[in-house]
Amino acid sequence: MKRTNLAQLRSYKGQQKFTCVTAYDATFAHWASESEVQMVLVGDSLGMVLQGHDSTVPVTVDDMAYHTRSVAKGNQNCLIMSDLPFMQAATVERALTGAQALMQAGAEVIKIEGDERLVPVVQALNAAGVPVCVHLGLTPQFVHRFGGYRVQGRDETSRAATLAAAQAMTEAGADMLLLECVPSELARAVTHSTPLPVIGIGAGPDTDAQVLVMHDLLGLNPHKLARFVKVFAASGDTPADSFSRFHQAVCNHEFPAPEHSFDA
Ligand code: KIV
Repeated sequence: MKRTNLAQLRSYKGQQKFTCVTAYDATFAHWASESEVQMVLVGDSLGMVLQGHDSTVPVTVDDMAYHTRSVAKGNQNCLIMSDLPFMQAATVERALTGAQALMQAGAEVIKIEGDERLVPVVQALNAAGVPVCVHLGLTPQFVHRFGGYRVQGRDETSRAATLAAAQAMTEAGADMLLLECVPSELARAVTHSTPLPVIGIGAGPDTDAQVLVMHDLLGLNPHKLARFVKVFAASGDTPADSFSRFHQAVCNHEFPAPEHSFDA
């Protein structure tokens, strides 16, 4: 299997879907590489699924660099994206420092959470040669501002702000967008409004790609599952089998179904 690169995923727009799973260590990066998924995300969700916090806020750049290095060791075929953690995209200076640490640990794309105010950060990362994915919609690092993990983009102001942010990020030089927990209709509108690949989670069936947290997909999450999650593990599976089952369900337009998606 040939290693996936960013140009390849960008060329899939409107042609074929792609998939991403989170990975935090060498073993699961290996299993992702053995499967049909094309991308791994070293997500700051590790603050919750590995470290046991109730949000991603406590995660540091050192944590992200450690797990990115581990993933890079085990990965053979997937494109590696890593999250800049809480506050690290608050200034251009901090974003450049954090991105340098994660890229040197093995990341190939850096994901940042926020809104239209990220334009200068995206421009600076782009100028520095750092591929950027901008995470819009429900951005878990902002949970305390949102007052909980709530679907975003349901009222007209928030819908318009999401569309404007997608447009601004595209013009600022972002390479990908990720939309979390927004109505399917809004995700469809964003996906059609930009030439960038749009990855969705809880954003309905019409985005260019889908991502799930590995622990959710494999049925390892002991807590109540979010509406947008489906467990793809079956008896006798290797993790690679379950990851491929997720990939096939996305490519065959079977996942996400209406019961995994949100209305406006
Ligand atoms: O940190 C993470 O795992 C994420 C996904 C939920 C997209 O950002």
